[in-house]
Amino acid sequence: MKLLFMAGARPNFMKVAPLLWECRKHASVQTILVHSGQHYDRVMSDLFFEQLSIPAPHHNLGVGGGSHATQTAEVMLRLEPILVREEPDAVVVVGDVNSTMAAAITAAKLGHRVAHVEAGLRSFDRTMPEEINRVLTDSVSDWLFASEPSAVVNLRREGFAEHQIHLVGNVMIDTLLACRDRALQMHTLDHLGLTPRGYAVLTLHRPSNVDHPETLGRLMATVGQIARWLPVVFPLHPRTRQQLQHLPHVLAPGIRTLDPLGYLEFLALMSNARLVLTDSGGIQEETTVLGVPCLTLRENTERPITLEQGTNQLVGLDPARILDTAERVLAHANGPPRRPALWDGHAAERILNVLAQTL
Ligand code: UD1
Repeated sequence: MKLLFMAGARPNFMKVAPLLWECRKHASVQTILVHSGQHYDRVMSDLFFEQLSIPAPHHNLGVGGGSHATQTAEVMLRLEPILVREEPDAVVVVGDVNSTMAAAITAAKLGHRVAHVEAGLRSFDRTMPEEINRVLTDSVSDWLFASEPSAVVNLRREGFAEHQIHLVGNVMIDTLLACRDRALQMHTLDHLGLTPRGYAVLTLHRPSNVDHPETLGRLMATVGQIARWLPVVFPLHPRTRQQLQHLPHVLAPGIRTLDPLGYLEFLALMSNARLVLTDSGGIQEETTVLGVPCLTLRENTERPITLEQGTNQLVGLDPARILDTAERVLAHANGPPRRPALWDGHAAERILNVLAQTL
């Protein structure tokens, strides 16, 4: 069985890692790893490969940044000859970034079978580029591997055949569970001078939150209020850093910006936080498993299980709602973590079993 994996951006790397670890256990599985190069800084890419023991990619497409059309087109152009040469039995794509969608469409048009890991998630918000990527990727995929029951419901509603849909759990949680002990031994808090539960973590990178100075300024003013109650640690995504260069005055004294962190350092930071504020998708799931309260700075989520069973609350961008919720969360100790069904560290194993049975 020859499987070609595509990974392109930071949130892809912790999703392909457990699939590659699982493949390594089976001598009959040959893997080809393609990196699109959508993310390319050492701290956004190479560091994740090192920490997660992901082998060097067989092919790096080096597409880099650019508009949506440019990124998508470059992945397609550069991947096509590789697919023709490698002739994989299946192409495995993860998540919802531009590289995911571009690879899925290119592979499907060449007649390759496509497996989408993290299929069926829907925010029902087509202004999110990721929502368009999710819908398009699923539409050309043969195997749809879902991480939570809502995704299965969405896929059924969209008319996919029952034999295509597999509820397998969450590969990102496979990685978290495999790495948690190692992360906690990293002394990240000591290096940053932080105490367990003595700080909040903020991450922001959605274009809708960071690309407009007014929106970003208002959000930072609200977070500045929270930073009066406890320090807020803010690792900066390159997109957000670029925007904040023009707005240095919006950072209140209690907000501490950092360069992007490695996977293990960020996992340690999140695990010990009193509160996380984020617009990321994956962090909503990770905080659920860690039992750390998460305030999601968006109006919707494609991961509703984190609201129903986890620690996530949607607070949108309204300052009063954010501050009220943060105040309420800080008034109570963090509760025990709850793990949704199948978020048990074995999702990659289930995926490989399904692929092996059908190929
Ligand atoms: C992309 C994904 C998003 C995901 C996010 C995680 C799409 C449409 N968006 O958004 O779903 O949540 O990754 O981080 O695929 N840059 C660097 N160094 C890097 C990577 C990016 O400087 O290593 C710069 C780019 O040149 C660009 C900006 O950051 O100016 C944004 O990068 P891009 O890949 O276009 O989108 P993200 O915002 O990272």
